[in-house]
Amino acid sequence: PLVTTGELVTRAAAAHSAVASFNIITLEHVEAVIAGAEAADAPVVLQVSENAVKFRYGRLLPLARAAVTAAERAAVPVGLHLDHVQSDDLLRQAADAGFSSVMYDAARLPYAQNLAATRIAADWAHAQGLWIEAELGQVGGKFGQPALDAHAPGARTDPAEARAFVADSGVDALAVAIGSTHAMTTRTATLDHDLLKRLSATLDVPLVLHGSSGVPDDELAAAVAGGIAKVNVGTALNIAMTGAIREFLAAHPEAVDSRKYLSVGREAMARAVTGIITALARPLKG
Ligand code: G3H
Ligand code: ZN
Repeated sequence: PLVTTGELVTRAAAAHSAVASFNIITLEHVEAVIAGAEAADAPVVLQVSENAVKFRYGRLLPLARAAVTAAERAAVPVGLHLDHVQSDDLLRQAADAGFSSVMYDAARLPYAQNLAATRIAADWAHAQGLWIEAELGQVGGKFGQPALDAHAPGARTDPAEARAFVADSGVDALAVAIGSTHAMTTRTATLDHDLLKRLSATLDVPLVLHGSSGVPDDELAAAVAGGIAKVNVGTALNIAMTGAIREFLAAHPEAVDSRKYLSVGREAMARAVTGIITALARPLKG
């Protein structure tokens, strides 16, 4: 069934677990994420990024409607989230399109401007009944932006600054920069677990990990134990889909029916979804 992202994250945070939130781009992504979550028997969030909307010729509704319909019919609770929103126009469409939550991303701006823009977005979102996440610090590697050194001075989230940011903006959750980077195609990121511990001790809102595709399973499990309650994953699904399709087409150069390779890609994504959800719930080593 379709539920709100806020309730999934709140419940996860209270249980010291995390809900996985997967970027959807095509209908196959929607079907794969739900199939993968059903296989894991776990709630899940479907998230649509502003970049995915741009890819869909600037239109939110076609993908949103597919996601709402699929969520309503799912055997597990599914939340719908609008991700990395910079455009006020897109933010305004969220509630009508069926989303219960948004991530407003002004993290590229200096602190004072990030706070001012986020506070306006949060007031607006709350008036619409939306749950809102924002970002402080720099999780690099965003679409169209140069990759950042995730551990560069100034890239990571400062706990005292984060406390003020959350209090003054009124956001419901905070995306923190603790060493992951967007769009990594290898799972080699090492997280700053000491910083995460300080952030979760300082903040009373759930913490969100972005760029989770580059984070190995044991690091993910440790991040959940350290206080991450929402884990955003995008690139891992593209790696799974593209790899499976590439392999299929190489083995079947005569294939022309798109259903043949899309189903292979969809199954690979569903397995990746189940794998990541399982990793989040895995007991810590040692
Ligand atoms: O908001 C989306 C996530 O941060 C996805 O990052 O594509 O590196 O997994 P990723
Ligand atoms: Zn992100």
